[in-house]
Amino acid sequence: MTYEIPGAIEITPLSDSGSKVTLFHAASETSVEIYTFGATVTSWRAHTGKNSLFLSEKADLSGAKAIRGGIPISFPQFASGPLPAHGFARTSNWELVLSEMGPHLPTTVKLKLESNHKTLAIWPHKFRAEYTISLDETLRTELEVTNTGDTDFSFQAALHSYFSIADIERVAISDLSTVTYIDKLAALERKIENNSALRISAETDRVYLNSPNTLIVRDETCGTGIAIDKSGFADTVVWNPWIEKSAGMKDLCANDFKKLVCVEAGQIDAPVTLAPGLKWIGIQELKRIDL
Ligand code: BG6
Repeated sequence: MTYEIPGAIEITPLSDSGSKVTLFHAASETSVEIYTFGATVTSWRAHTGKNSLFLSEKADLSGAKAIRGGIPISFPQFASGPLPAHGFARTSNWELVLSEMGPHLPTTVKLKLESNHKTLAIWPHKFRAEYTISLDETLRTELEVTNTGDTDFSFQAALHSYFSIADIERVAISDLSTVTYIDKLAALERKIENNSALRISAETDRVYLNSPNTLIVRDETCGTGIAIDKSGFADTVVWNPWIEKSAGMKDLCANDFKKLVCVEAGQIDAPVTLAPGLKWIGIQELKRIDL
């Protein structure tokens, strides 16, 4: 069975692990690249060729570790905890199970990850995760998790989007004003955001709770922005490693902190509990805008 569609979906087998899937949407002149390793979207390009997602030049694309950049998936754990950081979804091999396109439809693929001996060894729950990526003038990513076992389980999830920006000091994220956030750099203290346009000028690692479903990331240097629409995900994470942390990360270049900002749709503070047979869906939709 091939999922290739001439002019819309290309599949490139990789020597190390899985394959790279490229989606084209002719009418909007956009494209997306996805590694089946981690189901990680690594690029989202407009007709100009510019990747709106940040992908580190030092990202390891071999399948040996999580890809630094794009949109890795955090599941079933967000960040640190008993499981490997951000869970195992971003380091698992996902299977391509569907591709479709049509004159008036987005170009779409679906990838699947089911519990297997490796996941059951560290997280004893039977599940099916399906990730649908649809491209037209927007990039829509939908994560669906089904409990295929016979006992309840709980999980966290996030779409850990890295946006490419020209200069972090000329970026504004709006509007998170009045939203309570957990400041991971201040012993998990809960604080309230006072700024209607959040600006970053130091290491930042925050989980905004029950955040608005629509946010805008403005890149003032370029006069462009990204509108983020989420549903199903209650929270939003804002992360930038800043100078020291960035310099200490093997898969980031020293100055990369200037060129990236992570704004992640997540279900973090209140994990989802799924009874047998039930499913949960979280969606993130990205759209490029001019300011
Ligand atoms: C963010 C977390 O989502 O991801 C941070 O809030 C973490 O605490 C960052 O440092 C990067 O995580 P990792 O595991 O990809 O280095």
